[in-house]
Amino acid sequence: MLHIFLLFSLIFTSTNVLAQDFCVANTASGIVTPSGYPCIMEAKVTSEDFAFSGLGVPGNTSNIISAAVTPAFVGQYPAVNGLGLSAARLDLAPGGVIPMHTHPGANELLYVVHGHITCGFISSANKVYLKTLKRGDVMVFPQGLLHFQINAAGKRPSLAIVTFSSPNPGLQILDFALFANDLPSPLLEKSTFLDDAQVKKLKGVLGGTG
Ligand SMILES: *[C@@H]1O[C@H](CO)[C@@H](O)[C@H](O)[C@H]1NC(C)=O
Repeated sequence: MLHIFLLFSLIFTSTNVLAQDFCVANTASGIVTPSGYPCIMEAKVTSEDFAFSGLGVPGNTSNIISAAVTPAFVGQYPAVNGLGLSAARLDLAPGGVIPMHTHPGANELLYVVHGHITCGFISSANKVYLKTLKRGDVMVFPQGLLHFQINAAGKRPSLAIVTFSSPNPGLQILDFALFANDLPSPLLEKSTFLDDAQVKKLKGVLGGTG
């Protein structure tokens, strides 16, 4: 009798665990934890939630970097909540660059849809890994490491799709971290060995103060 009871509890427990097929994010809940958002009720989930059309639309590259990143992270694409992955579209106009940055929360895999893109990352041993990719090539960027992408297709645009090993990879752009906030310039200069003229110039371009 006890054995049968235990067997039933085991089946019931594992069925309950398996029943959690997905957890479409309730991004309006105001609650977000390191493991993601709470789920919307399964009865309210539809096929529409699992599809995302945003990556089919070219980003606006009329900006200082001549490039655009269109994210399909959990904020834009709530169905990836809890699934350990997300994506983005990179549009690089001629001369375009995705400046040196890191994703603190995810590995990245970049796939070149068209054009040529020079990609590089810097390991924590400060070794540079650099490669110019052509259409169909992929490259990985390990989690947390500084990396960049530069259009290498001359007068033509390039397009890439990137995927991440987290619904919320995070994005920190190095120059924004240094020059787009109010860290007092004397401290910035002391802690980076940059001279005052360079710091003033970049704070001017990127909107930093202090
Ligand atoms: C692209 O961005 C620029 C600069 O913000 C803006 O002037 C322009 O109207 C935008 N183009 C489109 C198609 O949205």
